[in-house]
Amino acid sequence: MLDKIRVLHEEIEKAVASTTEEVEALRIKYISKKGSVNQLFAEFKNVPNDQKKAVGKALNDLKNSVLEKINALRESFESDDSESDGTDLTMPGEPIKLGTRHPLSLVKNKIIEIFGRLGFTVAEGPEIEDDWHVFSALNFPPEHPARDMQDTFFIEQDPDIVLRTHTSSVQIRVMEQTKPPIRAIFPGRVFRNEAISARSHCIFHQVEGLYVDENVSFADLKQTLLYFAKELFGEDTQIRLRPSYFPFTEPSAEMDVSCSICGGKGCNLCKYTGWLEILGCGMVDPNVLDACNIDNQKYTGFAFGMGIERIALLLYGIKDIRYFFENDIRFLKQFESAI
Ligand code: PHE
Repeated sequence: MLDKIRVLHEEIEKAVASTTEEVEALRIKYISKKGSVNQLFAEFKNVPNDQKKAVGKALNDLKNSVLEKINALRESFESDDSESDGTDLTMPGEPIKLGTRHPLSLVKNKIIEIFGRLGFTVAEGPEIEDDWHVFSALNFPPEHPARDMQDTFFIEQDPDIVLRTHTSSVQIRVMEQTKPPIRAIFPGRVFRNEAISARSHCIFHQVEGLYVDENVSFADLKQTLLYFAKELFGEDTQIRLRPSYFPFTEPSAEMDVSCSICGGKGCNLCKYTGWLEILGCGMVDPNVLDACNIDNQKYTGFAFGMGIERIALLLYGIKDIRYFFENDIRFLKQFESAI
């Protein structure tokens, strides 16, 4: 019996294994129920009494050696494993990706920042408005086509309530609540009953601006907008004002900037005119000041309004306005570090 134990001892000492499966095989061979070490334990009852003490000790030693050997082999793989797949457990974790700002928010924030430098504060108003703030106070005559169902979304139960078609409604709210001097811009979402296409959408965003004080002139308007255009599109940008019409401004104008792509020489973007139309503006009509109880003999003002989508299309060279509303991550993540 002691001889058998010694043979097994030697065998185990020499045993090698290079995979976890091989270690498992060794374990089964020696110390599973039918393994050779256990078989010796089964034979223990036949050992003469006077040898029991020595054989018992030898058997226990053998079993411990097997366990030690198996554990040692196992550990050697485990440490080998972590080296072989190159994992460095002390490395810092992968950073969690943050979302990115929507391009329309980036452009809006940039516009707010530029006018902020000129002392314009930010105000907001409701998207669901009454006729007074969207049309009447802004000098729209009762038969004006914008009041038509074709252009404006009405709330079914009450024809006096509409989804605002422009942020000019916030001009009125601010003038009703504050005394001049007023210098503020109004960013927000607007709604028009239009077919959705590459160039227009029934929901879009505007930023309106208003400056009311004594002696505000058209020259102030022009200088403010020139500064804005240069800050947004680049130092070399030029502006052009064309006469236009809005019920709430007199005189009114539309402003073009020199094309940011070709610099005025003519290209696809500016349709070979060298100019891009970006906003409407004018001197606040005295009737509008009057509607807000502002003394139109003492005060004058200018206002302007622009579409954020339109400016974003131009700044980023995007061809289709619908991209802004699809929330396709592949589109949105391109603007991570833009402007
Ligand atoms: N509210 C006009 C529009 O939506 C823009 C505008 C604002 C024009 C202020 C002049 C003055 O088209």
